[in-house]
Amino acid sequence: MTWHVVLEVRRDGPEPLGAQIADQLRRQVEQGRLAPRSRLPSSRQLAEDLRVSRSVVVEAYEKLTGEGLLESVRGSGTRVAAHADTRIRKPVVLVDRTVPPARFNLLPGTPNAVTFPHREWTSSYQRAVETARYQGLGYPPLLGVDQLRTELISYLGRVRGVLGHPDNTMVTGGFAHGLGLICAALVELGVHRLAVEDPSHDRQRQFIEENGIRTVAVPVGAEGVEIEPLYASGVRAVLVTPSHQFPLGVPMSQQRKQELVRWAQDTGGWIIEDDYDGGLWLDHRGRHLAMQPVSPERIIYAGTASKLLAPGLRLGWLVLPPELTRVTEMVRVRRDLGGDGLMQLAFADFLRSGLLDGHLRRMRTRYRAQHGTLMQALERYLPAATLVGPVAGLHVFATLPESADEERLVARALARSVLVKGGRVFYDRPGTALPGLVLGYTAMGRSGISEAIRRIGEAYEE
Ligand SMILES: Cc1ncc(COP(=O)(O)O)c(C=O)c1O
Repeated sequence: MTWHVVLEVRRDGPEPLGAQIADQLRRQVEQGRLAPRSRLPSSRQLAEDLRVSRSVVVEAYEKLTGEGLLESVRGSGTRVAAHADTRIRKPVVLVDRTVPPARFNLLPGTPNAVTFPHREWTSSYQRAVETARYQGLGYPPLLGVDQLRTELISYLGRVRGVLGHPDNTMVTGGFAHGLGLICAALVELGVHRLAVEDPSHDRQRQFIEENGIRTVAVPVGAEGVEIEPLYASGVRAVLVTPSHQFPLGVPMSQQRKQELVRWAQDTGGWIIEDDYDGGLWLDHRGRHLAMQPVSPERIIYAGTASKLLAPGLRLGWLVLPPELTRVTEMVRVRRDLGGDGLMQLAFADFLRSGLLDGHLRRMRTRYRAQHGTLMQALERYLPAATLVGPVAGLHVFATLPESADEERLVARALARSVLVKGGRVFYDRPGTALPGLVLGYTAMGRSGISEAIRRIGEAYEE
């Protein structure tokens, strides 16, 4: 390995060469240009780069090592000392997204390194790298590489009933990225408020507001989002999770879908369908297809690989009403130059080879078993919990009696090394909801799930 640093020596100056090298290195470490543990070239290499004799570099390195700024690591040369003092300080973190350490993780949406299809994904990625030409290695089209949009439309039609064309499909860096683009497109169209379900994804509300759109919370009833408040508030866009309401889990009734579409047609409104766990219906009976085909002209369909594969891939997609496609492309032009072409080609290969279908088939079996374990454990250790919603998705919502103290329960669970989220945090007005828990069950195997619920039961009894 040949490492590189930027140093300059002046042969005509009064200062000896070794001192010049040492001074510059010292300054760079102090300024933070050379971070702790940065590797340095070997004395032989640096001597060659600077056209000085090796002994000059050795002398400089030894001097700084003596000062505790550099250290030599056996077998791998010289580096900046791990504890070297630099002036660079860690920035203050405004939003702390770090997860407290816990043995049992029941947070919804947590990926599981054991179930990720490493071999299949690697083979798709390898084929993508080997066959990539301009599309893939050059700037990809803003909508995403052609191969992936074609594969996505075929997959989404087959599995989710979505109606679309590759030309009105946009590949995004996950749903969050797509939502940011939609917010910008809505502002462009003069829409400044967006109705969101209450309850809904807590961080999504904040994200929308940060994107310049005010959110209006609309309650979710047994059939889905309430329609009257939509008319009453005068909003012209709504974000819904019709197949599997997040976080409650209830699907929107067919009648409510019709009513919602009628609202959109009456008011010229837009419906954003967040199909975040599309296709992960675990029980074949009563499986819900996407809502988008009810009105492809008024519904923006959004999907993501975060639940189907892993959030780390940052892959999502939008199937846009034709009227919105150009404006969404236009707002994207101002923000980025397209997504990760190689990743998109790999995902196209993954879909084309049937690897996603195979993976989801295996996952449904696994998740069904885990869901069963969760049910049994709740019945045994937390009988006070009442479940909301059907056997679907990757989490369940459980309510607790009015008298339960949700916040304390979550804190006590954490004290027992169980990371779990309360239900009320998802509500715009938490006081109106029963205390509850949102239980994700993908991060652990069955014995882990059972033990985590046993500990929650213990915390509840306390
Ligand atoms: C309701 C909802 N929508 C969307 C997403 C996925 O977002 P992304 O694709 O940006 O990972 C999640 C993931 O947690 C979610 O819970």
